[in-house]
Amino acid sequence: MKFITLILAALASLPSAVSAQSVFAHFILGNAGSYTETQWQSDIKLAQEAGIDAFVLNIAPPLVGTTSTQVSNAFKAVNDLGSGFKLFFSFDYLGGGQPWAASDVISLLQTYTPNTAHFKYNNVPLVSTFEGTNNIGDWAHIRASVPGGIFFVPDWSSLGPGGISSQLSIIDGAFSWDMWPNGANNMTDVPDKAWKAALSGKAYMMGVSPWFFTDLPGYNKAWVWKGDDLWHERWQQVLAVKPAFVEIVTWNDYGESHYIGPIYNDGIPRAPNANAHPYVDNMPHDGWRQLLPYYIAQYKSGGIAPTVSKEKVSFWYRLTAAAAGSNGGVTGNNCPSAINLGGYQSYVDPNTVVEDKVFFTVLVKSPSTITVQIGGGTPVTFNASRVGSNHFSTPFNGQTGFVRICIVRNGATVLSSTGAAIQAHPASGVTNYNAWVGGAST
Ligand SMILES: *[C@@H]1O[C@H](CO)[C@@H](O)[C@H](O)[C@H]1NC(C)=O
Ligand SMILES: *[C@@H]1O[C@H](CO)[C@@H](O)[C@H](O)[C@H]1NC(C)=O
Repeated sequence: MKFITLILAALASLPSAVSAQSVFAHFILGNAGSYTETQWQSDIKLAQEAGIDAFVLNIAPPLVGTTSTQVSNAFKAVNDLGSGFKLFFSFDYLGGGQPWAASDVISLLQTYTPNTAHFKYNNVPLVSTFEGTNNIGDWAHIRASVPGGIFFVPDWSSLGPGGISSQLSIIDGAFSWDMWPNGANNMTDVPDKAWKAALSGKAYMMGVSPWFFTDLPGYNKAWVWKGDDLWHERWQQVLAVKPAFVEIVTWNDYGESHYIGPIYNDGIPRAPNANAHPYVDNMPHDGWRQLLPYYIAQYKSGGIAPTVSKEKVSFWYRLTAAAAGSNGGVTGNNCPSAINLGGYQSYVDPNTVVEDKVFFTVLVKSPSTITVQIGGGTPVTFNASRVGSNHFSTPFNGQTGFVRICIVRNGATVLSSTGAAIQAHPASGVTNYNAWVGGAST
C-alpha cells in the first residue's frame, strides 16, 4: 500500500505529458474593447462547453487604453469564475503598425504569468506571437526576464518550416498560420507534417479554421480562401498529424469571417472603407461549435472516438450562389490587386474557389438517414452510416428558400433544424462570401 502511494506521489510530481494535448481559440482582444466581466464570462463558459482550454489573447501594441484594461478584465473574469479556463498571449507584431517593444512584452509577462489563469505547459507559461520575425533577437532577453522562463511557441509562419529549423535553440515549438488552401484546392496536412518534422520533437501547434473571407479595403484586404468542407477536414487532419496543441482561428475575428463565438456588434470592424457589417450581420457561426466537444475529445484520446451522448447537426452555406451578385473587387487568394496591396499568391476568380452547396456534419449514435430540403424542393437523402461524425454536402442546384436538415432513424425524425433562406440574388447586389451557420443538438 505504502509502495503504491509512493508511486502515485512520484507520478503526480512528473511533468504531465497529457496536458500537451490542449485546444485554444485565437481571441482578438481589439474586438473586445467594450467587454464587461459578464461578457467575458459568458464567452468563457461557451468556450468551455465546446471543450476549449484557453483563449489566446491576440494583442497588438501599443500597451495603452483598452488593450491594457481588457487584459486585466479578462484575467479577473477567469479568476472570479474559477472554472479552470486559461489565457495566454499571442503578441501581434503586425497588427499595431509597429512591433512590440520588448520592455512591454516583459512587463505583461511579469504581471500575468504568475496568475493562476495563465496557461502553463509543464508549469511553464505558454507564450505565442503573430509573426515578429524582425524581433527574433528580443526573445532571449524576454525569456530571461520572466522568472521560471517561458514555453515559447511563436507563429513565425513567414519563415516556413525550412526557416524555423535554424531557430530551434530559442523556441520550444511553433505555430503555423498555414491553414487555408490555395485556390479551389482542399487544404491538406502536408504543410503541418513539414512543420512538425522541422521542429524535431518540439511542440507543433496546428491551426484549424472554418472559413476565410475579408472585405476591408481600408485595411488593404479583400479576398476569399476556400472554406466549404474545411472545418470537417481539418479536424480529421488533426487526428493524422497529432500536434501537441491545436489553435482554432478564431473565436471572434469578424473581419475575416472565421469567428466561432457569438457576434458582438461592438467588435465588428466599422472603420472608414473597412466595414464588416454588410457581411457579418445576421451571419451567426455558433453552429460550428456543435461538434467541437466530440472533435476535441477524439484528438485528446489519440484518435479514439468518444461515445456519442447527444446527437448533433452542424450545417453551413452562403445565402446566394456566388455568381448571383458582383464580387465587389474581392479576389480568390491573397493576390496583388487594387485592394490586396501586399498580396503574394496567384489570382483566381473567387467564384471558382467556393462551391454553391450546403455543407453539413452530423453526429449520430447509430446509422441514420439525413434529409436536406431547400425551399419547396425535393428532399435529398444521405446515409450517415457511421456511428460518430458523418460529413456531406449538397449543391443548391438553383433552389432558393429555407434549408431544412433532419436526422431520421427507423422512420422517426430524431433531430431537425431549419436555417436561413437561400436567396436568388443578394439584396445589396454584392455577393456575401461569409457563411450562415446553423446547428442543433438532442
Ligand atoms: C474536396 O473535398 C471534398 C470532400 O471533403 C470533396 O468532395 C471534393 O471533391 C474535394 N475537392 C477537390 C478539388 O479535391
Ligand atoms: C443507404 O444504405 C442503404 C442500406 O445500407 C442502401 O440500401 C441505400 O441505397 C443507401 N442510400 C443511399 C442514398 O446511399
